[in-house]
Amino acid sequence: MAEASVTAYLRFPGVPPAGTRLCALHEIPAAGTKGFVFGEDVQRFELFLVYREGRLGAFVNDCPHAHTPLDVIQDQFLNLEKSLLLCATHGALFRIDDGRCVYGPCKGKALTPVPVHIKDGVIFIGQGGMNG
Ligand code: FES
Repeated sequence: MAEASVTAYLRFPGVPPAGTRLCALHEIPAAGTKGFVFGEDVQRFELFLVYREGRLGAFVNDCPHAHTPLDVIQDQFLNLEKSLLLCATHGALFRIDDGRCVYGPCKGKALTPVPVHIKDGVIFIGQGGMNG
């Protein structure tokens, strides 16, 4: 399986710079997902965090099928079993670990990952280190 580029998210308009604070780890709801919106209109950028079983991931909130946000209910990105990410628009299901669509109209495509890191219990955009 080809790894998605860690910089692919930068092609979306309105991406906040590396080092942008998202939230504290404890602010992620118990269900394990939380969405964020930056900017507005053509510069609007949405992403979401998924924190399950001690592992943190982040994706652009943009379904590869029709490019809608995945969540209809704020901060809810998981299926009922909490085993896969769900696009509420047409029901596509994505693996949590790599965002690959395993069911639905965009099967085989993938969500775009966003690199994030944790420092002192706070989550930031970017891979960390000297340059964020
Ligand atoms: S927009 Fe996500 S499944 Fe159609």
